[in-house]
Amino acid sequence: SKGGFKHFMLKEIFEQPKVISDCLVGRIDKGKSEVKLPELNEFPTPERLHIVACGTSYNAGLWGQHLFESWAKIPVTVEIASEFRYRDVILNKNDLVLVISQSGETADTLACLRLVKSKGIPVVALTNVVGSSIAREANASIYTQAGPEISVASTKAMTSQMILLSLMALYFAKRQNNLDKDILKNALEGLSSLEPELNKVLPKLREKAQELALLYSGARSFFFLGRGVCYPLAEEGALKLKELSYIHAEGYAAGEMKHGPIALIDQDFPTFALAFNDSLFPKVKSNIEEVQARQGKVIALTHEKTSLTTVDNLWIIPEVWGVLNSFIALPALQLFSYEVADYLGKDVDQPRNLAKSVTVE
Ligand code: M6R
Repeated sequence: SKGGFKHFMLKEIFEQPKVISDCLVGRIDKGKSEVKLPELNEFPTPERLHIVACGTSYNAGLWGQHLFESWAKIPVTVEIASEFRYRDVILNKNDLVLVISQSGETADTLACLRLVKSKGIPVVALTNVVGSSIAREANASIYTQAGPEISVASTKAMTSQMILLSLMALYFAKRQNNLDKDILKNALEGLSSLEPELNKVLPKLREKAQELALLYSGARSFFFLGRGVCYPLAEEGALKLKELSYIHAEGYAAGEMKHGPIALIDQDFPTFALAFNDSLFPKVKSNIEEVQARQGKVIALTHEKTSLTTVDNLWIIPEVWGVLNSFIALPALQLFSYEVADYLGKDVDQPRNLAKSVTVE
C-alpha cells in the first residue's frame, strides 16, 4: 500500500531516512572505528575496481568512484553495462568488478557479470533483491536494505547504494590503513546522523519542491549542473526529470558547459545547479554566472555558507559533513521531479515506455 501517500514514489522518497539506518545496521563498529563488510573479507584489495551498472545504479556508481579514489586510493572505472559488454575491456587478475543493480535482473548488467566471470575475474554484486539472478551468480553479494521499490523511478534504492558504496570505500581504506583518522571518524559519525537529519528536512524539501514546480513546470528543457560528487547527482536529477515529466533534461559536468552546451542557454532554458559549500564552489559559481550572462534562469541547491544570492531561486539545504551532503541533495532532486511530474498530471509511478526491470537488451 501507499501508506497514505499519493504515489509509491513519494512514499519511497520519505522512506529514505529509515533505509539509511537499515543499511547501517550491523555495519559500523564505533569503538574500533571500523566498517564491517564480511562479504568482502575474502577479496584482496583490488588493484583496479570496475563498477558496471545501468541508469540510476550507474549514477550511484559514478558517485561512489569519488569515495573509492579519495578514501581507499583505489583506481576506479565506471561503466555503462550495455557498452562494457561489447567492448574489449582489459581486465587484470588483481582487478575486481562491482555490478550494481537494484532489481538484480537487468539484462545488460547480468551479461557483464557473466562475461567477467568467464574471464576468471571476481564479481561482487550490490543489489536489493535476495535470490535475484545477479545475486545468485556473483562471487559475493552485498545487499542494500531498501525494501521493495515499486515506483519505476528509482529513489530509495540509489540512496541505499550510496550508503553501501560509502561503507565499501571506508572498508577498503581502513584495511589498507591509509585513511586519515579524522576523515574516518567524521564519515562514520556523519553516516550515523543522517537518519534524523533527513527526517527533519524532508518535509521542508517537499515544500520547496512544490514551490519550484509551480514556477518551472512550463520549461521544455533543463540543465542540471554539478562538479565533483555533484556531477553524478546532476545526472540523476536530469534522469529523474525526463523519465517522470517528459521534460528534456541534461545532466552536465558544469565545466563542460563552455565546450558546446552553453550555446543552448536562453531565457527559456533554465538550469538547476548543485553548488555545495566545498572546494569546487568558486568554480561552480562562475559556471552559474556564465549561464546568467546568457539570460538563463537558475535554481541553485546550495548551503547557507556559500552566500550565493544572485540566482533566480535559491534552495538552501542544511549542511552536513563533506560528501554526505549528497544524501540531502538527492531527495531534493527527486522531490523536484516528483512535484513537476505530479503538477503536470503525469503517471508518476508508471511513466510511459518504461519498465521497472529491464530484462531484455
Ligand atoms: O534494477 P537496476 O538497478 O539494474 O535498474 C537499472 C535501471 O534500469 C534503473 O535504475 C532505471 O534507470 C530507473 N528507471 C531510474 O529511475
